[in-house]
Formats: sequence, C-alpha cells, structure tokens
Amino acid sequence: MTARKILITSALPYANGPIHLGHMLEYIQTDIWSRFQKARGHQCYYVCADDAHGTPIMLKAQQLGMTPEQMIGQTAIEHKADFAEFLIGFDNYHSTHSDENRAFASEIYQKLDAGGYIKRHTISQLFDPEKQLFLPDRFVKGDCPKCGALDQNGDSCDVCGATYSPTELKNPRSVVSGATPVLKDSEHYFFDLPSFEQMLQDWTRSGSLQDEMANKLQEWFKEGLQQWDISRDAPYFGFEIPGAPGKFFYVWLDAPIGYLASFKNYCDKTGVDFSQFWAKDSDAEVYHFIGKDIIYFHSLFWPAMLDGAGYRKPTSVFAHGFVTVNGAKMSKSRGTFIKARTYLEHLNPEYLRYYFASKLTSGITDLDLNLEDFAQKVNSDLVGKVVNIASRCASFISKKFDGKLSATVVEPALYAEFAAAGDSIAESFEKREFARAIRDIMALADKANQYIDAKAPWVLAKNDATLEEAHLVCSMGINLFRVLMHYLKPVLPAMAAEVEAFLNSPLSWDSYQQPLTAHAVNPFKALMQRVEMSKVEAMVDASKENLQPAAPAPAPAAKAEQAAAAAPAVSGEIEPIGETINIDDFAKLDLRVALIVSAEHVEGADKLVKLQLDLGNEQRQVFAGIKSAYQPEQLVGRLTVMVANLAPRKMRFGMSEGMVMAAGPGGSEIFLLTPDSGATAGMRVK
Ligand code: MSP
Ligand code: ZN
Repeated sequence: MTARKILITSALPYANGPIHLGHMLEYIQTDIWSRFQKARGHQCYYVCADDAHGTPIMLKAQQLGMTPEQMIGQTAIEHKADFAEFLIGFDNYHSTHSDENRAFASEIYQKLDAGGYIKRHTISQLFDPEKQLFLPDRFVKGDCPKCGALDQNGDSCDVCGATYSPTELKNPRSVVSGATPVLKDSEHYFFDLPSFEQMLQDWTRSGSLQDEMANKLQEWFKEGLQQWDISRDAPYFGFEIPGAPGKFFYVWLDAPIGYLASFKNYCDKTGVDFSQFWAKDSDAEVYHFIGKDIIYFHSLFWPAMLDGAGYRKPTSVFAHGFVTVNGAKMSKSRGTFIKARTYLEHLNPEYLRYYFASKLTSGITDLDLNLEDFAQKVNSDLVGKVVNIASRCASFISKKFDGKLSATVVEPALYAEFAAAGDSIAESFEKREFARAIRDIMALADKANQYIDAKAPWVLAKNDATLEEAHLVCSMGINLFRVLMHYLKPVLPAMAAEVEAFLNSPLSWDSYQQPLTAHAVNPFKALMQRVEMSKVEAMVDASKENLQPAAPAPAPAAKAEQAAAAAPAVSGEIEPIGETINIDDFAKLDLRVALIVSAEHVEGADKLVKLQLDLGNEQRQVFAGIKSAYQPEQLVGRLTVMVANLAPRKMRFGMSEGMVMAAGPGGSEIFLLTPDSGATAGMRVK
C-alpha cells in the first residue's frame, strides 16, 4: 500500500459562542476519519481554526466591554479545551485573525482582482443611524410585508413563510439599537462567481461529491450563479481590503482561507511542505467536512476562489446533516441545547463519540440524539458487549494463569474470521459509513460473547481437569477483544489506550492479523462505566436556560447574546394583553379540534410544514410555520386546535385552509396546542 497525502479540515467554529453538541457531530465525524487514515499509515493532517471575524463578533465584544481580540482570545481557549476533552486530535488549531490568514486573503484577493474577477458596484442597504452601522439581514426586524405578522426576521416570516428583502419589512427596526434603519448607498466589491460556472460544472462532475450535494449544485446552476458581495464597510472586525481604506473583507471571504492559514502555520512549525498540498498540480487529497448549511460557500465560492487565484481545488467536500435532540431542534428552554462543556461536566466524551459513530452515514440526513436511546445503546453495546468480553476473561488470566495468555490459539478459524472482517470494516470507515462499521463490529462482539457463553470458562476454571481449557478459552476471548478494540480505536481513542496498557501491546493496523500468544498482560481495570440516566437528566437540567428576563434591563452578557445569536428567537417578554372584545366577537372564531393525519416538509420553505388535518367530516390542508420546532414525523397522529373559519389563503406552495394554534416566540420555542385526552376531531372549542 502506498501512503496517501491527505489534508482534512472541519468547518471553523465562530468565535462568539460556545461549542455545543451540534458542532460536536462534525468534529467527531472528522476526527474518526482522520484517526482512521492515520492508523492506516497515510500521511494525514487534520487542521482547524476559530472563525474570528464579522459583525456579530464585533458587537458581542462591544457589549461585553472588551476588544474583539480579547474576546476571541478567550473563546479560543475555551474551544480548544472542549475539543481536547472530546479527544479531537487536531494537528493544528489556529485563528482566522492571524498573520498567515491576512497574507493569504490579501494575496488571493489581489490575484482575483488582477484576473478581472473583482467588480465594483454601488448598492443601497439598511443602515443604523444611531450605531452608524450597516445592518446584516438578521439585525433587522419588523412586520411581515405579506401577512403583517409582528416582529419577523429581516429575510423571512415565521408565520406565513414568505421570504423578502429586509428593505420590504414594515416598521423596520435595528435589533442593535432599536432605531429605525435608513437606506444608504455605498460601493461594494463583488467576486464574479458566474465566470467560474464551467469550471465548477466540471469539478462537480469529476469530484467525488455526495449525490445530494451534486444535485443541489445542479439546482443552483439552473437558478443561475450571482455576483458575490465580498466587502463590508467600517466599522467591521476583519481585514481591511488592500488599496480600499475603510472597506473590509466579508467574514466568509477570509473564513475558508483560514484552512490554508492554519495549515501554513503548521507547516512552518514542522517543516511539512505546504505547496505539496496546495499547488495547482498537487497530488495530495484535500477534504473539507462541513454541515449542510454551508454547502454553497464550500462548493461554489471556495473552489472558484482557489481556482481564480491559482491554487488546487478540494478533492471533495463532505456535508453532514444537523443534530436534533429527542426528535426536535436543540432548545434552550427544554434543556436540549447542550454545550460541549455541560456535557463534559456530566458524561464521558467517548459515549457521545460512540453514539454519533453508530448513527453516522455518508449522507446529509439529520441525526437524532435521543437521550434514552443514547444511554441504552452505549450500555448495551460498549459496556454489555465489548467490555464484557474482556472483563469475563481477564480475571482468570491474572488470577489463575499468572497474567499470561496461552501459547496456542484454540479456535484459529474464529480468530481468522474476526481478522478477515477488517477489510470490509476499513472500507466502511473509508466511505464514512461509520454506522455500518459499528454494526459489523457489534455483530462480531455478539459472536465473541456467544463463544464465551458456550464455553463457560467460569465452570471450566473450577475443575483442575478443565483448567487448561479455561486458559485457552479466556486467551481466545482476550484475542477476539483485541481485534475488536483495534477496529474501534478511531472512535474510542482513550479506551483504546487503556486497552493497550492492559494488553501490553499496541493496537496497530498491521499487528492484529497475528494473535497474541504466550504473552503477558497487565491486571485488568474496569474500562467503562454504564451511562446513568440520572447524569443525563442532570445534564439536561443544567442546560435549561431561564428565558424570562429577570429585570427590565438585561445584563450586558444577555443583551449581547440576543444581538449576536444566530437565531434571535429567545424573547421572554410577556406580550401585553390585547384590546377587550365581547362574546359576539369571540363567537365569530370557529376553533376546532383537528387530527394531524399527515405532515410533510415543503420543498423550498425553511420554516413551513404542510399539514393534512382531519375535522371529523372534512379534511384541510394547512401550511404551518412550525418547522423550526417540530419534525413532521413528530406531528402525525396528534390532536391540535385549528382556526377553521379563517379565509383560505393562496401561498407560494399551495392553498392554506386555516391555521393551527401554537404559543411561544418562535424558532425552537414554538409549542403547539393539544386538547386534553378524550377530545376528538371536529369538536368545537368554545
Ligand atoms: N464559521 C462558519 C464556518 C466557516 S468554515 C470556513 C460556521 N460556524 S458555526 O460555528 O456556525 O458552525 C460550525 C460547523 O458546525 C458548521 O459546519 C455547521 O454546519 C456545524 N453545526 C452547527 N450546528 C450544528 C448542528 N446542530 N448539527 C450539526 N452540525 C452543526 O458555520
Ligand atoms: Zn408573514
């Protein structure tokens, strides 16, 4: 086998917030793949960095009364500690706010400009006159221009699902200062993405992209590629554009360049040859692991920028789905928005590494962290199957046989079967089909346990006549366990290290073909405790955030969080009670108990779920803006309450014939009404 040269990255986490379990899916997936490649003897590097620039980071630092440099310095320490404890084995962790990144960003920009790929146009944008700041879309809120719903985001309405530009909002206000934004002109710099279309088409076809991603790209090509706005006006935390005072690179311009910067920083420290990996004619492989939300940046802008500036393009980009917890989006009020740190305070990081591995495929579907299933699976697979093999055999080896394994392997065919499975398990790891690898490993673990059950060494060991057989069986068990731990090492590096200490022998890819014979092992120590549900519950409790503001003026940190959070869905204020109505006004509302008979995703609508509702003697189709809080599967079969006499409304996706009722500020905080048990579809609510 010839050693491949492989460079692997994970997306760079933003430096204005903590790492949470959603992020961890990506770093765990990448780390397993990187450890696997290294175990196979390839020349493999895994680099990452904090993504330190942009308006949210600038504003959050301001609110905390720090400089952005101070804030990102502190965040970097926290991020690195979280990753280290989750055993993420980066070869280098850097920052986009670094000398290397400034140099690469300038160089790439200047090459693109020289190639004629940078255009300049004057555009008109919403500006906060109080803060003297151009407002990104999500820093503007107002009333929906289509349905009039209050307090909607700058780009789309949670209630009716409409999408629009922030300049169309009614009663717009700046989330930062509350001021009414004004329109202001400014010259912006654009990257000419459309001139790379042919190259990108070719790359899509030649590259080893996931099917889902290739399809998405085809849709984007059909819609037509657009010029990409890469400049932002001061004040901005980022790199000033060379030759353009007061203009800064948009954070997404220099973020992926951070991959180059982190690797360069590593090469300078270690003497690895940077250009072997990044020169146009490089024969190295380069892979970016990312979430499905940032495919556009990585599969269009990034390869085009690299190509335009004379660098090689990534070999592939691997996207994964999003983590949900207990079937729903992670939620601060439910305690399922779990920070990496909170998890680490309660549970062993290898539990999560194993659980994610057992569910990861090479696809883009979302992955549910069901906390009961998590505890159950770790307990039954790792503790009940894998560790159990060793703990049932090891004590006899040390107590009765002086810590020495038998000189012969009593079931060579069984051993050969375990060793032969390595090729297909390796192929599953290589293809990022971790769930399949784990399934195969657990099937072997079952076999090993069946073997031990059948031989019952605890019975054999009682009798001098069968003592030698007990030795052979227990040695066999330890050897089978050793092969399995070898396969699990990329997933469970800490447990593997303890096993190496116990076995007195490294778990390396070329050694497991041969069993250990007449070999001294060390006393066995318990390798892994069971997951206790009480600890899981304590973690959820510790993650519950009180969303009601304690005092009228929020503390600076809370205010910053509101301004900088990606989805400012956390309101907390109690809405004032509306105008008084009389009973006749109320009687006009026809509210009915409705049974949700089907629920589906709506292609092209981020916030909507299409519901089919049964009202006893008729069915209605309703589009509900509840996708941010509910998966369609969770809704089917539930009773809820609907407004049955609301005039039907034509939406982009079809007719909506009524409205389901829910409480809460939006985002993951949407709570659908449910009648008490006994109610049936069609009953009127009065
Ligand atoms: N800073 C950008 C990435 C720049 S890469 C040049 C960013 N940062 S992020 O902190 O929001 O996300 C980092 C990675 O974590 C992304 O790949 C994102 O998709 C992933 N995830 C964030 N939340 C996630 C889940 N809930 N589930 C799975 N992955 C998630 O985007
Ligand atoms: Zn609306």
